Formats: sequence, structure tokens, C-alpha cells
Amino acid sequence: MSHKRRMCALICYSLLLLLNLHTVVAAACHADDQSGLLAFKAAIKHDPTKILATWKPGTDCCTWNGITCRDARVTSVYLSAPEDAPGAYLAGHISPAISKLRFLDGLYLLDLKNISGRIPDSLFTLPDLQFVYLENNKLSGLIPFEFGNLTKLYSLSLAGNRFVGRIPSSLGALTQLNQLKLGGNLLNGPVPAAIGNLTTLTYLGLQNNMLIGRVPNFSTLKNLLFLYLSGNSFSGPIPASIASLAPKLVDLTLGRNNLTGRIPDFFSKFKSLDTLDLSSNRLTGTVPKSFANLTKIFNLDLSRNLLVDPFPSLFVKGIESLDLSYNRFNLGTIPKWVQSSPIIYSLKLARCGLRMRMEDFKPAETYFYDYIDLSENEITGSPVQLLNQTEYLVSFRGSGNKLKFDFEKLRFAKTLTELDLSRNLVYGKVPSAVAQLKKLNVSYNHLCGKLPTTSFSASAFVGNDCLCGSPLGACR
Ligand SMILES: *[C@@H]1O[C@H](CO)[C@@H](O)[C@H](O)[C@H]1NC(C)=O
Ligand SMILES: *[C@@H]1O[C@H](CO)[C@@H](O)[C@H](O)[C@H]1NC(C)=O
Ligand SMILES: *[C@@H]1O[C@H](CO)[C@@H](O)[C@H](O)[C@H]1NC(C)=O
Ligand SMILES: *[C@@H]1O[C@H](CO)[C@@H](O)[C@H](O)[C@H]1NC(C)=O
Ligand SMILES: *[C@@H]1O[C@H](CO)[C@@H](O)[C@H](O)[C@H]1NC(C)=O
Ligand SMILES: *[C@@H]1O[C@H](CO)[C@@H](O)[C@H](O)[C@H]1NC(C)=O
Ligand SMILES: *[C@@H]1O[C@H](CO)[C@@H](O)[C@H](O)[C@H]1NC(C)=O
Ligand SMILES: *[C@@H]1O[C@H](CO)[C@@H](O)[C@H](O)[C@H]1NC(C)=O
Repeated sequence: MSHKRRMCALICYSLLLLLNLHTVVAAACHADDQSGLLAFKAAIKHDPTKILATWKPGTDCCTWNGITCRDARVTSVYLSAPEDAPGAYLAGHISPAISKLRFLDGLYLLDLKNISGRIPDSLFTLPDLQFVYLENNKLSGLIPFEFGNLTKLYSLSLAGNRFVGRIPSSLGALTQLNQLKLGGNLLNGPVPAAIGNLTTLTYLGLQNNMLIGRVPNFSTLKNLLFLYLSGNSFSGPIPASIASLAPKLVDLTLGRNNLTGRIPDFFSKFKSLDTLDLSSNRLTGTVPKSFANLTKIFNLDLSRNLLVDPFPSLFVKGIESLDLSYNRFNLGTIPKWVQSSPIIYSLKLARCGLRMRMEDFKPAETYFYDYIDLSENEITGSPVQLLNQTEYLVSFRGSGNKLKFDFEKLRFAKTLTELDLSRNLVYGKVPSAVAQLKKLNVSYNHLCGKLPTTSFSASAFVGNDCLCGSPLGACR
């Protein structure tokens, strides 16, 4: 997930929280709510960063961390352990006593990591529930079919847990549902046809499960903006029915499945498409000329298919990330529409048949570059100039080319953590600056001299002319 998306999720949650906050009133909370929350706390066995410290008997539960009330009744429980709170988690299970919160409309248990066990049946006796976010925990078992009883649900997220089995058809009864997020579980079987009933969905996330069968016909989901189906075992072609999601769809991910056939010609209808991921399938043929009309595309990943030339020229104003690696392209040079992008941060063109001098890659803007992968091409010359301009580069991969330059002249951005120059014609000494990297591979070049002190293994340095010192043999 991109930073952008992570920010959005955070802002959306915060907004929901704010909307709820203004309804807080002074009156002390209802005794049932208080005892329900204390039972919830009792089922939490570890809380190392004291997320629940304010949850104390004898105090007004409406003032407790994460609690929102309306007319002295708890309407929302919002607990999270975000990435910027390292070491924060809750371990334990969800107490069935949660059902004492009769007026609950939002249950948010976000990124708490170690909440495990099943979802208690009693949750389904809370008919006012509209927002259920149980994301990134360790909840397990089948997805209870009783979710179909919560017909007021507006958002349901069980993403990032350990749910198994099939997606229950009963979810088709949730006709108010706007977001359904089930990604990152262990779900299998086909997607039930009943999902087609959820015509108000704007977000459907089923990625990173073990779902099988054809990509479903989602043509009834006319409001869909975000459709994530990557990392499953969907097979067959990209269905024609996808075209009916144009022009609204913003994100479509179908990567890491088992899709075959050609890329259909309808993508130019997707005037709002921002992200398209078709990577790691078995797609064949050419990329349709109509891709030229994807003028808003920011993230395009077609890597690891069996696609062939010619690759169309895109009229996109600014691509942010592009991955065409490991197809059967012979691009020759890096396309102009890529070099001219003012906002690109990730360029991956490994094994794309590039036959060029590194010096001829002159990106219009280098400020945002984080990742460059040009491995397995026939690139000659030196990346010294490029790496001198890419101030915030994190990773440069250029293995398996004909790069020929003095390694000691290479300037390392402070942010650089990965450098792969293996199987090139690099000469000179290994500079001590490599010690800042987390990953290094300069094997099979023409390097010489004593190695600086690093923790890299010998395989990072083997196959050079006369390198010596730990982890290789002692210098003579
Ligand atoms: C939390 O989960 C991690 C990863 O599964 C595990 O190693 C750790 O022991 C758990 N901690 C507690 C207190 O449950
Ligand atoms: C769910 O609804 C069904 C009928 O639609 C009902 O029989 C069942 O008792 C309900 N379950 C719960 C937990 O309320
Ligand atoms: C889906 O909608 C159809 C009719 O549109 C209905 O017959 C069916 O029961 C619904 N499925 C579910 C699971 O609600
Ligand atoms: C993809 O399909 C092939 C045969 O069509 C099958 O052997 C393979 O297991 C499938 N891979 C996945 C990840 O589903
Ligand atoms: C998809 O389903 C819709 C309605 O359910 C139907 O009209 C349409 O023909 C289907 N499309 C394809 C390509 O199967
Ligand atoms: C792009 O769209 C325009 C108008 O929408 C159309 O005339 C043109 O043929 C399209 N180009 C391609 C390559 O599909
Ligand atoms: C690297 O950039 C600096 C200025 O930012 C410049 O002075 C220097 O000559 C450049 N070095 C190379 C090898 O291009
Ligand atoms: C370094 O690169 C070589 C050749 O590309 C490869 O065989 C080896 O596994 C790599 N070693 C490391 C540590 O990445």
C-alpha cells in the first residue's frame, strides 16, 4: 500500500472519530456499558503501552480512551496501535460481554496485532452496528454468516486476520454496505455471487487470500471505486464485465493471480484509473494501443507476464510508479513519457531489452526517486551521474548489464539501503560508504583491493579480479 493510501485511511478514520466526538455529553455512562467495557478489558491479557489505562471502575466510561457516548450510552469503541506507536499491541480475545453495549454503532479494533480467537456470537445481537473494523489482528475461524444479520452495516473490515473458509453468501444481505475489506486472510473457494447484491459498495478488498475461479462479474457494483483482487488464485481471462466499472473505478489490482489471455482493449474507458496492477499473471500479446488514453494513471504494474512489443506511447502527465519488468519487451531505451514525469518515485524496467548508455537516461525530475531497477538489460556506461542526482534514492538495482565505471566515484544518497551491481564491468575499490547499506551485491565485476569492514557475506563480493580481506581471503 502506498503512503498516500495509508494517509487516506488514517484521515478517514480520524474524520469518523471527530464526527462522533462532538456528541460526547457530560453525564456518566450507563452501568451496562461500564460493565461491558470492563469485561472487554478483562479479556485483554497484555497491554504493554497502556492503551486501556484510563478504563478504571468508578470513573465515567464516556471519558475513557477510545470511547464515544451519546446520551450517556456508548456508541463507539475505537482502539488502535498505529505504526507510529512502536511496541503497542493488545493481546487477548474479544469478550462476549461486548453485547452489553446496546447502542454501539462503531467497533474499531485497528492494528492491535494480537487480538485472537473468534468473533463472539453476541456481537450479532447489536442491531445498530454500522462500522465494524477489526483490522490487522489475529482473529480466526470462519467469517460468521451472522454478519448478514447486521443489515445497517455501512463498513465491514476483517482485513489482515486469519479467517479461513469461504466468504459467506449471507453478506449479500448487507445492502447498505459501502466498504467490504476482507484482504489478507486465508479465505478460499470462489467469490459468492451474492456479493453482486452489494450495489452500494465503493470499496471491495479481497486481495491476498486463496480465492479461486474466474474473476467474478461485478457489473452490478456501479459505485465501485476501489477493487482489490490481487494475490489470489483467480484464473481465466480478465473478464469483459470489468469494463462496466468504467469510468468510475480508481484502483484495480489483479496482480499475482493465474490470469491468461490478452489485456482487453477497454481500459481507455477508465478515465479515473489511478492504479492498475496486472503483474505476475500469464497474460500474453501486446499492451493495447488504447493505453495511450490512460492519462490519469499514476501506478502501472504489468511486470512478470508474457507481454510483447510494441509498447504504446502513453500520454500520461506524470507516472508515479511503473513496473514493466520480466516480460518479453525490447524497449531499447527508457520511454520519453517516463523520463519526463515530474513525480516518478519508482521505475522498474528489469529485463526489458534496454540497449542504451546509462548517461542517456536523463530524467526531468529526480527529486522523488526512491527505487530504480534496470537489472538484466544491456546498459553500458556509468550510473555515477544519475546517482549523484537522486538525492533520496533507497534502492538501485542494475545487475546483469555492462556498466563500466570506477566504484569509488559513486556517491551514495544518505537514504540508500540497497545496491545491486552484480555481473557488470565495475572496477576500482569498494568504498567504505557501502557499510551504510542493508543489502549489497557487487559480485562478478572487476573490483580490486582491500574490502572495508562490513557485515556482508562473501557472496556479495565473489567473482571479482582481486578483492581481499574479510569476508574474502586475507590480503597478501
Ligand atoms: C504477539 O504476536 C506475536 C506474533 O505472532 C507473538 O510472537 C507474541 O508472542 C505475541 N505476544 C503476546 C503477548 O501474545
Ligand atoms: C440472524 O437472523 C436469523 C434470521 O434471519 C435469525 O434466525 C437468527 O437468530 C439471527 N441471529 C442472531 C445472532 O441474531
Ligand atoms: C441477492 O439478491 C437477490 C435478488 O436481487 C436475492 O434473490 C438474493 O436472496 C440476494 N442474496 C442475498 C444473499 O441476500
Ligand atoms: C495456475 O494454473 C496452473 C494450471 O492452469 C496450475 O498448475 C497452477 O497451480 C496455478 N497456480 C496458482 C497460483 O493458482
Ligand atoms: C454480467 O452480469 C450482468 C448482470 O448480472 C449481465 O447483464 C452481463 O451480461 C454479465 N456480463 C458478462 C460479460 O457476463
Ligand atoms: C483515445 O481517445 C480518443 C477520444 O476519446 C479517441 O479518439 C482515440 O482513438 C483514443 N486513442 C486510442 C489509441 O485508443
Ligand atoms: C555531483 O553533484 C555535485 C553538485 O551537486 C557536483 O558538484 C559534482 O560535480 C557532481 N559529481 C558528478 C560525478 O557528477
Ligand atoms: C549476488 O548476485 C549474484 C549474481 O547476480 C547472485 O547469484 C547472488 O545470489 C547474489 N548474492 C547476494 C548476497 O545477493
